[in-house]
Amino acid sequence: LDLPETDPFEVAREAAQQIAELTGVERHDVALTLGSGWGKAADLLGETVATIPATDVVGFGASAVPGHVGSLRSIRLPNGKHALVIGARTHYYEGHGVRRVVHSVRTAAATGASVMVLTNGAGGIKETWTPGTPVLISDHINLTADSPLEGATFIDLTDLYSRRLRDVARGVDPSLDEGVYVQFRGPHYETPAEVQMAKTIGGHIVGMSTALEAIAARQAGMEIIGFSLITNLAAGIQTTPLSHAEVIEAGKNAEGVIGDLLARVVAAL
Ligand code: 6GU
Repeated sequence: LDLPETDPFEVAREAAQQIAELTGVERHDVALTLGSGWGKAADLLGETVATIPATDVVGFGASAVPGHVGSLRSIRLPNGKHALVIGARTHYYEGHGVRRVVHSVRTAAATGASVMVLTNGAGGIKETWTPGTPVLISDHINLTADSPLEGATFIDLTDLYSRRLRDVARGVDPSLDEGVYVQFRGPHYETPAEVQMAKTIGGHIVGMSTALEAIAARQAGMEIIGFSLITNLAAGIQTTPLSHAEVIEAGKNAEGVIGDLLARVVAAL
């Protein structure tokens, strides 16, 4: 994937072929990327058909972040459809390039998935969001100054986070809040001034993933739904310093509730 002459879509098709062989599941219908705090959802979705180390599949590296699992799981949903659970996210801040970041999404599309569920742990800008609050992503602002698209690929990003799927999610939990996700490069958290900027330009959630993946999913023709777990309030909104340990801890405490939410949403898709 690192060579300019490599076709990233060709690598994604190879990866999808390997997943079909290793899981014994020819085709997946929906794919989920599970971020901080969301891992429990996989156990609640249905019956696990196969779990494979992501490193067995071309283009997938081992996860560099503690609290992220590097596996791919094929799950049979109660309705007989198959979900591909991606527990191996490559973050933009790892510096391997945007092709590596969106490889899992392109692979998911190549396995046949028409719905992409993107989840993350993120910082909240609204004071009313206590740690553990799940928020439906309504739109995003990409502050990475990068794009997964190469060359003259002028795609539309209107309703990137599907209105239909957001309605489905709110049907499951009418109390779900919505917000605009702002992807920063990271890996440091934002300064309070940067958080104020994110708020001023229309953001409600700050994080280090998801936006680039959503763009690639749209390019692949998938329907997208995104969820953030608010693990903490963003810098300057909360007065205490942020720590990765705190983010992981908040995720652990919320995982039962949000896992159940996500499983119910996927069942209703
Ligand atoms: Cl405050 N910022 C970013 N960029 N990512 C986060 C976060 C904050 N809290 C959890 N993940």
